[in-house]
Amino acid sequence: PPLAAMLNTFDFESVAREVMEPQAWGYYSSGGDDEITLRDNHLAFQRITMRPRILVNVKDIDLRTSFLGAPASLPLYFTATALAKLAHKDGEVGIVRAAAKAGVTYMLPTLSSYTLDEMLEARAPGQLMFAQLYVNPERSRSEIYVKKLEAAGVKALFVTVDAPQLGRREKDMRSKFTQQGSDVQDGDEDEGAVDRSQGAARAISSYIDAGLCWDDVPWLQSITKMKVLLKGVQCGEDAVLAYKAGLKGCVLSNHGGRQLDTSRPGIEILPEVMEALREAGAKMADFEVFVDGGIRRGADIFKAVALGASGVGVGRPVLYALASYGDKGIVRMVHMLQDELQMVMRLSGTPTIASITDKHVLTTNLADHI
Ligand code: FNR
Repeated sequence: PPLAAMLNTFDFESVAREVMEPQAWGYYSSGGDDEITLRDNHLAFQRITMRPRILVNVKDIDLRTSFLGAPASLPLYFTATALAKLAHKDGEVGIVRAAAKAGVTYMLPTLSSYTLDEMLEARAPGQLMFAQLYVNPERSRSEIYVKKLEAAGVKALFVTVDAPQLGRREKDMRSKFTQQGSDVQDGDEDEGAVDRSQGAARAISSYIDAGLCWDDVPWLQSITKMKVLLKGVQCGEDAVLAYKAGLKGCVLSNHGGRQLDTSRPGIEILPEVMEALREAGAKMADFEVFVDGGIRRGADIFKAVALGASGVGVGRPVLYALASYGDKGIVRMVHMLQDELQMVMRLSGTPTIASITDKHVLTTNLADHI
């Protein structure tokens, strides 16, 4: 179907499933074990209901915001996902271009299919970037990689902390990855080629240090002046530890349901984390909280912002839009979410991002699940 026929993020998913190689589809779409968390990530948003206010002047709606010092056209960023070339030959380079056009910040993945230099070269002048880090068992390799990111002007470093071992993703394990010819280029040069012969996820495991712990946080902070955040926090205690360690924020995430199955959706963890941070005296300006997992509608973005998130990350929708229509697909996907968010804000009586509060949603049913 033509790009203009795409009406929502789910439409891209349907097209991607048709056009992608079955192995690539298996890697992207899979979740851990029984995929309970994978499914619940989006369903959790549907358990939050809206509590709109009326007779507010909503002629003009302003979606713009900023997080971590980066201006954003809406409270959304593209999260890091490994191996984008499995979706489309343009891979991460296509995502970088789409991010520039849509005014959205992209979190570069450590395990990219294009090299870091190639991704950086694709930037538009002044384009802001975040980066995700898997700490390598050889720490010096991570140190070199981080210094390169900093030198390139990357704004913030998100250290992934929910994957000391990669989850069991059976769809991915069943489709033994074979080399797919020159179409698929392996690995970042800083990380070495990723051997996918055992399924993509298992191949990636050897690049992640399972020994990483809280004692290593000062080391992480010592190797860079970038803001350092944790990606994959799942409870209030850990958010408070991160805040007390001097980190600049965290992403409440279960890795898109790909890691510990039956863990909670990020949106459900959010109230607990905001409460714990409030009790610990954290100010939002010092410690920013993000959510990813299951963001598929503008209303999902609204709900996360209402409950205290600075912004949300989208993963699979970016890959599916890229697979279906290249970078143009991603730009359209962002515009759809923008339109949806604008409508939800207008119908809720919240003309600006700052005017969205926890009084505009109801979370009574949020924890009733599984
Ligand atoms: C991921 N994710 C991920 N996270 C990370 O820190 N490093 C990585 O290399 C990857 N790789 C990756 C590959 C694929 C195919 C997916 C789908 C996800 C997790 C990602 O950053 C994010 O947490 C989820 O994708 C968010 O959920 P949605 O938006 O996909 O539902």
